[in-house]
This record gives sequence, structure tokens and C-alpha cells, in this order.
Amino acid sequence: MATPQSGIFVEDSTNHWFQEYDISRSADVSNVVAAIRSAAVFDSNAERDGIEIVIGVGSELANQIGIETALDFRPFETIGSGARAAVATPHDLVLWIHGKDRGPIYDAALHARRTLTKVGAIVGDTPAFVYRDNRDLTGFIDGTENPDVAEARSLAVVAEGQQGEGGSTMLVQRWIHDLDAFHRLSQADQERVIGRTKPDSVELEGDALPDTAHIARVVMEDESGEEVEIYRRSVPWGDSTEAGLMFVGFTDELDKIDKMVRAMFGPLEGEREDIHDQLTAFSTARTSSYFFAPSQEALAGLGQD
Ligand code: HEM
Repeated sequence: MATPQSGIFVEDSTNHWFQEYDISRSADVSNVVAAIRSAAVFDSNAERDGIEIVIGVGSELANQIGIETALDFRPFETIGSGARAAVATPHDLVLWIHGKDRGPIYDAALHARRTLTKVGAIVGDTPAFVYRDNRDLTGFIDGTENPDVAEARSLAVVAEGQQGEGGSTMLVQRWIHDLDAFHRLSQADQERVIGRTKPDSVELEGDALPDTAHIARVVMEDESGEEVEIYRRSVPWGDSTEAGLMFVGFTDELDKIDKMVRAMFGPLEGEREDIHDQLTAFSTARTSSYFFAPSQEALAGLGQD
């Protein structure tokens, strides 16, 4: 079995940095591969400094440099319209740099930008951080129902023998919160938006859980009645003026996560016309992109043949 990138599953990082790039289509493939390797792949400094660098590629770059993606991998398609929409922002490359100490993370981000802008342009550069006891900036604990690492290694990774084995499809969305509006709500109303209690993340049940609550929209079952699970690694970003959540989710099948985002922005088939996730009244997805995080072996083989 090919090995998934280790950084996907390292959960004790307290500092994060996300960079997104568009790579020039006219750039020489060997230069692109060399830049990616230098920025992210066999970065001995990363090992020395105890930081992780996870790399994800968009579908066009995957074709350009010969990375095999999962069979169902495709670019994000815009969902919804007007104020409630997740507009597709297709990019070629994401680097998710994380660890405990911000210094080496900054150095790695700077090195990556210097290296990768020789073959393309940087289109996203977002430091992110762990807020209190793993809370989103709304104040709610994020990750309560996340599978543990052992489960995540099987449910979020393309299985052995399948195309893209050991890789994982990654949804990256930079959400901007209207924290002033959210904080004007009473705690009880905030809890009805999320579907959990604020201090301790206990699920609202029965009539207490509105069908527009975030968890009411994203908890879903497959045809066999099994709960659909993804692995979330989201982290807050921002300053006191503009802030939100870098949503990062991993899945072995793109449709699992795609259905969840669709449910947030509007009705799924057979649902009433006006239903959506109430969270979208307080947060806007400024970017939405799918990337494929190839296995370690696939990255190591880059440019080797
Ligand atoms: C503004 C963006 C978002 C915020 C602030 C947010 C916040 C939260 C919070 C506070 C929880 C409850 C605690 C937990 O179980 O982790 C939660 C659960 C969850 N969220 Fe989100 N989320 C956001 C976007 C998304 C997106 C885009 C997806 C999927 C594509 C998603 C999928 C889930 C799932 C699957 C759960 C677990 C539900 C359960 O099993 O109870 N979330 N989220």
C-alpha cells in the first residue's frame, strides 16, 4: 500500500500556513518539478525543524507533471449563486505547512514562495493558528466528531489497488466570518446555527436541533445507511479585522465531501426549496478548490522517469 503524506495526520500542530499557487502552463515540466521538490517534497530543513509540509495538486497541474489522481478527482464546481455561493477558485498547488514553532514555518513559506514564483504566481498566502482548545473563531469546538487518526487513515485515503492509491482528495476553502453579526446572536441562537452547545459541544437533539443547523446539513448517510465520514483539519486564520476558517477536508471519494458542501448551500434532491445551512448567513466561502494530495511514493517519483 502506498503511504499517505504524514503531515495530513499530525494533529498537535499549533501553527499553520497555507499557500496556493498557479503554475505557468508554458513553464518547463522539469523546472516545475524541481521547484515543487525544493519547496515541499524532500525538504530536509522541514525534517530538521519538526514541521510538516502537505502538498496538493489541482487536476491541470497533475496532468502537466504526470501525477496520477483518484479516478473521481475533478475541479470544484461553483455551488449556488449571489450572496450564498461557493465560487470555484481552481488553483494548481496548495502547500499546507504546519508545526509547533512559527519560525521554521515562516522560513519554509518564504522559501516556497521564492522557489515556486520562478514557475508561477502565488495566489494565496494565509498564516493560520489554533484558537483556544481547538475552537473555530465563532467560539465553537471544531473537530468533536472527527474520526481519530487510525480511522482517518483508512476512510480518507484512496485504497490499495485503486488509481491514486495512498492519495487523498482535499477540499480547501477560505471562509470569512462575520463575527460581529454572529456574536450579536444570543448563545442559544448561536447553538441553533451550529447544532451543538457552545461550551462543551454537546449535540442538540430532536426538536431542539433545527434542520438548518450546520450539523443537521452535513451529517448524512449513504445508500446502505452508513454515516458518510470525512477527515477535517480546518484551522482559524486572520486578524481582528478580517478572519475566518481555512476549511481543509480529506476524503477517499470526492462525492462524499461534495455532497456536504452542496447541502450547506442549498437543497439536495427532494428537499424543500429554501433549505440551506444557517452558517452560510454568517460566513462566506471566498475560495473553494479541490486538490489531490498524492502518496509519498508518488511525490518521491516525481520527475524520476
Ligand atoms: C465556516 C465554515 C465551517 C465552520 C465554522 C464549521 C464548524 C463546525 C463545527 C463547530 C462543528 C461541530 C463540531 C465537530 O463535530 O467538529 C462542525 C462539524 C462538522 N462539519 Fe463543519 N464547519 C464549517 C464548514 C464545513 C464544511 C465546508 C464541511 C464539509 C464539506 C463541514 C463538515 C462538517 C462535518 C462532517 C461535521 C461533523 C458532523 C457530525 O458528525 O456531527 N463543515 N463544523
